Amino acid sequence: MSRTAIVDAPGKINLTLEILSKRKDGYHDLRSVLLPISLYETITVTERDDGEITLETVGDGVDTSELGNCPPEKNLAVKAAWLMKDLCGTDKGCHIHIVKRVPIGAGMAGGSADAAGTMEALRALWMPEVERKTLVEPSAMLGSDIPGLLYGGAILMEGRGEIVTPIFQPGERVAKGFWLVVAFPRVAISTKKVYENCIPCLTDRSKICDNAINSVREGDVRAACRYIFNGLQDTVFNQYPETKCFYTALGNGGALSQMLSGSGSAVFGLAESKEHALEIQSRLPEGTWSKVVETLPDSVMAAHGPLTP
Ligand code: C5P
Repeated sequence: MSRTAIVDAPGKINLTLEILSKRKDGYHDLRSVLLPISLYETITVTERDDGEITLETVGDGVDTSELGNCPPEKNLAVKAAWLMKDLCGTDKGCHIHIVKRVPIGAGMAGGSADAAGTMEALRALWMPEVERKTLVEPSAMLGSDIPGLLYGGAILMEGRGEIVTPIFQPGERVAKGFWLVVAFPRVAISTKKVYENCIPCLTDRSKICDNAINSVREGDVRAACRYIFNGLQDTVFNQYPETKCFYTALGNGGALSQMLSGSGSAVFGLAESKEHALEIQSRLPEGTWSKVVETLPDSVMAAHGPLTP
């Protein structure tokens, strides 16, 4: 009998993103405060007895037509399923059904959330005795944001992204999250292209990072506004001027402070409260793709299941 597991996998924003140096392997060493947000991909994974891995994606408020041009074997969720199959040594396969709510090419880690969620669902189905955190290290081979998302909650990412340090220790009281508006200019940006053109910031901005971490630890959005930083922002604004327009629109709409998320193209504006975020959203130009969301300092992905039909 086929069993199913369901995971709600959050997207993210980067409160800070420092690009420290270019590495010999072509990647960059970075330092980033990553915050999951309350915009979720819903991933339903059902076992298949024939060993195949198949994928179906439907958009909920996002355009998924781009995915049609991407062969399934290149999809991060499918790659994650193959990795889990290898790690478990199982003959089984699975069907992955994804409801996408995080826009594609937005710098909000939708594809990485799909991979992290697929790994957690297959952990629940195929290796329930193994802790989710043991998958963090192998997940790095799939993409730089995946270890952080799989770990869960507010984290500091270093190295290529694979060195993950939680901002709150287990059992510690977790501060409230921040409310924000994310706006997506409906242009999908290739992370690779952005990194190819960025200039690593050689100055030591560790104070920014430490202060940003403190603002998260204290749930102090006003303090966070003083330290938000994105070393890719200027490169992206130059290459994709529409992203700058959204940045300006969020500022004009009354955001406390605004910033590009990851390699873009989404931009987020921090708010005092949910009501304030809704107010900012209402002032964005008509037809803008935007969401009011909350950061999730202690969210942990958990699979519902295994469920049997
Ligand atoms: O790891 P991921 O597949 O998400 O990265 C996409 C691209 O972004 C990489 O191919 C690389 O060009 C760039 N990148 C980088 N340094 C990082 C993360 C990503 O140069 N730490």
